[in-house]
Amino acid sequence: MSLILLFLILLSISLSWATSFSYPTPQTFIQCMSKQFGPYTKFVGTIYTSNSSLYLHLLQSSQQNPRWLNFSTPKPLLIITPFQESEIQAIILCSKKYNLQIRVRSGGHDYKGLSYLCKTPFILVDLFNLRSVEINLEDETAWVQTGATLGELYYSLAKRSEIHGFPAGLCPSVGVGGHLSGGSLCTLLWKYGLAADNVLDAYLIDANGKITDRETMGEDLFWAIRGRGGASFGVILSWKIKLVRVPPTVTTFNIKKTLEQGATKLVSKWQYISDKLHEDLFIRVIIQNVGNGTQKTVQASFNSLFLGGVDRLMPLMNESFPELGLQAENCTEMNWIQSILFFEWISNKFLKEERVFMIMDPSGGQMKEISESDIPFPHRKGNLYNIQYLVWWEVNGIKASNKHVHWIRMLYKYMRPYVSKFPRAAYLNYRDLDFGTNKESNVSYLEARVWGLKYFKGNFKRFAQVKSKVDPKNFFRNKQSIPFLETGAD
Ligand SMILES: Cc1cc2nc3c(=O)[nH]c(=O)nc-3n(C[C@H](O)[C@H](O)[C@H](O)COP(=O)(O)OP(=O)(O)OC[C@H]3O[C@@H](n4cnc5c(N)ncnc54)[C@H](O)[C@@H]3O)c2cc1C
Ligand SMILES: *[C@@H]1O[C@H](CO)[C@@H](O)[C@H](O)[C@H]1NC(C)=O
Ligand SMILES: *[C@@H]1O[C@H](CO)[C@@H](O)[C@H](O)[C@H]1NC(C)=O
Ligand SMILES: *[C@@H]1O[C@H](CO)[C@@H](O)[C@H](O)[C@H]1NC(C)=O
Ligand SMILES: *[C@@H]1O[C@H](CO)[C@@H](O)[C@H](O)[C@H]1NC(C)=O
Ligand SMILES: *[C@@H]1O[C@H](CO)[C@@H](O)[C@H](O)[C@H]1NC(C)=O
Ligand SMILES: *[C@@H]1O[C@H](CO)[C@@H](O)[C@H](O)[C@H]1NC(C)=O
Repeated sequence: MSLILLFLILLSISLSWATSFSYPTPQTFIQCMSKQFGPYTKFVGTIYTSNSSLYLHLLQSSQQNPRWLNFSTPKPLLIITPFQESEIQAIILCSKKYNLQIRVRSGGHDYKGLSYLCKTPFILVDLFNLRSVEINLEDETAWVQTGATLGELYYSLAKRSEIHGFPAGLCPSVGVGGHLSGGSLCTLLWKYGLAADNVLDAYLIDANGKITDRETMGEDLFWAIRGRGGASFGVILSWKIKLVRVPPTVTTFNIKKTLEQGATKLVSKWQYISDKLHEDLFIRVIIQNVGNGTQKTVQASFNSLFLGGVDRLMPLMNESFPELGLQAENCTEMNWIQSILFFEWISNKFLKEERVFMIMDPSGGQMKEISESDIPFPHRKGNLYNIQYLVWWEVNGIKASNKHVHWIRMLYKYMRPYVSKFPRAAYLNYRDLDFGTNKESNVSYLEARVWGLKYFKGNFKRFAQVKSKVDPKNFFRNKQSIPFLETGAD
């Protein structure tokens, strides 16, 4: 591995950064980190200053939304890609010393870019060198470092076993760090719950730079990082996960119907049965605009994973959803890993031109069995399905941006009478800053409840208690990080 330790000269810090105290130069920060290392240890991670030729490339490498990085976006003082845990410890200690914030990035898929955006000077810690996946088929577990992507986890798994899977999301480039700490919805959730329901242990570096595991961090913190996102509590280094059993043959289908072909009736029927289907049968619906000019219409795609062969699927469909008219010819048998690619391929096909879509994922089976407070994700028993509202456009710029954002906000508002109320529920991994954000100067629990209850209902308060215990100086913070509990608040 390349050993680059750049001792570079001053970075010109823009004046807007300079507040009451002065921030360090990159060189001062690097010196501080070296001091954390004794004479016998080496910093082998890579440090990029804004002068490094790879700096911009790296900054943009895993971000998903071109809206977030532009000329006016504040950039990190340094981007550091650590190789060792001790390097992250040094980053935390030096950031605290110099009043810098850190942003931790795993897959960079945060919808609001919270893993690489910060208004005050900050260090971007990109975990992509920490991506090992160690599978233990004997006890059906794996240790996964948080810099790994879902694709890497699935690939490692597929190489070792045909009958093991893991109930995490569909997009292979999503990072294990953000995804598992936010919950994770997927096609296996009926049978096995969320990925976060299947986390057994974790290593985390806390605000004191201490490495802890489940036993030493305590059950409260371990509970919080399985659904609340890691960014409020520390840097999660790795997860121990429970692998789940999948049959060697699964079946998929994708039936598309436009309004003219009776989509409305089918979606209506689906709403009544979607959460009561057999636990092996997952059917999501994607609703989108298609065609253009006079051909404009709306299409519903019924996109399914069945944990078994076509022979067993057909009678089940005939019994619970005959209106869809599914034929054996519409189905493809494959293995579980291929089914992930199949779903991914279907969603990617939507991403072109100007598209608005609603992805509706049913919530049944195990999701209804697991208690609301087992982990922070509370949307279980009373929940029929989740809707993800998405708008896609190709032209970047303020005007296009305003137009589309306005449109999706109208759609979101339009849906209000038909969805959960008081609070209107939300899922952390589909992050939305419209719900509300922390003020930089005053992180208030009472104010944060506005958005906190949407994501976490009654679980929200417990985070505030954990936060006061594990990070009393609020080192790990961002626009929607966990606030402290004010006295008298409930
Ligand atoms: C194309 C696409 C497809 C998606 N598909 C699904 C899906 O199928 N199911 C689903 O449930 N969600 C899905 N999501 C949402 C996704 O789960 C979240 O955006 C998730 O937070 C991404 O994790 P990440 O590590 O890639 O993101 P990042 O942007 O790296 O991180 C997200 C947040 O977690 C923090 N974080 C990351 N790593 C760590 C760590 N090691 N320690 C502490 N904090 C950390 C970051 O600071 C940030 O606040 C999708 C998103 C996209 C863009
Ligand atoms: C970047 O290079 C310029 C010109 O060589 C120099 O003035 C500046 O101090 C350098 N910045 C950093 C962070 O090294
Ligand atoms: C530039 O990025 C910031 C976030 O960093 C965003 O708020 C702003 O809207 C973006 N500007 C444009 C023109 O897209
Ligand atoms: C399903 O299969 C039938 C019979 O082969 C075919 O006529 C129909 O077009 C297929 N539907 C889809 C959506 O592929
Ligand atoms: C929309 O119309 C344009 C121009 O006629 C055409 O190139 C494009 O393929 C059409 N898109 C769809 C989704 O039909
Ligand atoms: C579907 O159910 C009907 C009525 O029970 C039955 O007649 C038909 O043969 C079934 N079709 C399939 C494919 O199972
Ligand atoms: C922070 O906000 C809370 C709730 O709005 C308020 O009670 C408190 O006085 C504020 N603190 C400061 C320092 O502004």
